Amino acid sequence: MTVLVPDRAALAEVRAGMTGRVAVVMTMGALHEGHRALMRDARGRADHVIVTVFVNPLQFGPTEDFDRYPRTLDADLAVCREEGVDAVFAPTREDMYPGGKPKVTVDPGPAGAILEGAFRPGFFGGVLTVVAKLLNVTRPDVTCFGEKDFQQLAMVRAMADDLSFPVEVIGVETVREDDGLAKSSRNVYLSDEERAAAPGIHAAMQSGASLAGKGASAADVRAHVISELPGGIDLDYVEVTSPDLGPAPTVGPARLLFAGRLGATRLIDNIPLTVEAK
Ligand code: PAF
Repeated sequence: MTVLVPDRAALAEVRAGMTGRVAVVMTMGALHEGHRALMRDARGRADHVIVTVFVNPLQFGPTEDFDRYPRTLDADLAVCREEGVDAVFAPTREDMYPGGKPKVTVDPGPAGAILEGAFRPGFFGGVLTVVAKLLNVTRPDVTCFGEKDFQQLAMVRAMADDLSFPVEVIGVETVREDDGLAKSSRNVYLSDEERAAAPGIHAAMQSGASLAGKGASAADVRAHVISELPGGIDLDYVEVTSPDLGPAPTVGPARLLFAGRLGATRLIDNIPLTVEAK
């Protein structure tokens, strides 16, 4: 049975009744196959699974989509039931932040200012603050985050390490549509024309990754991906980094990351690649 838990007081009671290992999957709702993959992974690692559904105002910039972000709690509950989730914690903004914006927040450090952080000031501070709070109220042994938000996963891992949160952070592979588009709650914003163009992002990235396998440098891969992107993309960045988001290696495992807007919709994606010696 899946219980809907509306506030922190009720969560404390539900959590106290859980014995054995507890896994948490944090979401902003509008659940899709990518979230289901997180829930299944969590299920395999714990006796109880808690899913949190909270559209966190702290991580949205003033011109971003907080107001229009899809809110679909009934459908989300149905997904959680199908996936055998024990509890869905869906608090109100007032329950999470009773005094308004919290005065004490998590500072993501320098890694929070690159890539996504450079284009979304305050984003990782907002994410890490709510993640820290949700970890404290759910007290999980393990928490699963999608690789789709690769930098977010890295930042959550870094916070758990640096601040000694007693939780194991698991990264789960990105789930894609058949045509390669990474599943995202924001894909519903795409017009038919934009949706048709969107898989070109992953195709360009894969083409870049295969070039890397043939000895192309990180700089050449980056230039190639940019040249192969579908028309109409307003690019924020294409970058090749090390797997932990440091400088691109001259040889060995790396990560290729993309962010840009198709019309009014901001999309991100990333894939692993290996830079081979020439
Ligand atoms: O990835 C998300 O949906 C959000 O950033 C998260 C981790 C639930 C924090 O609000």
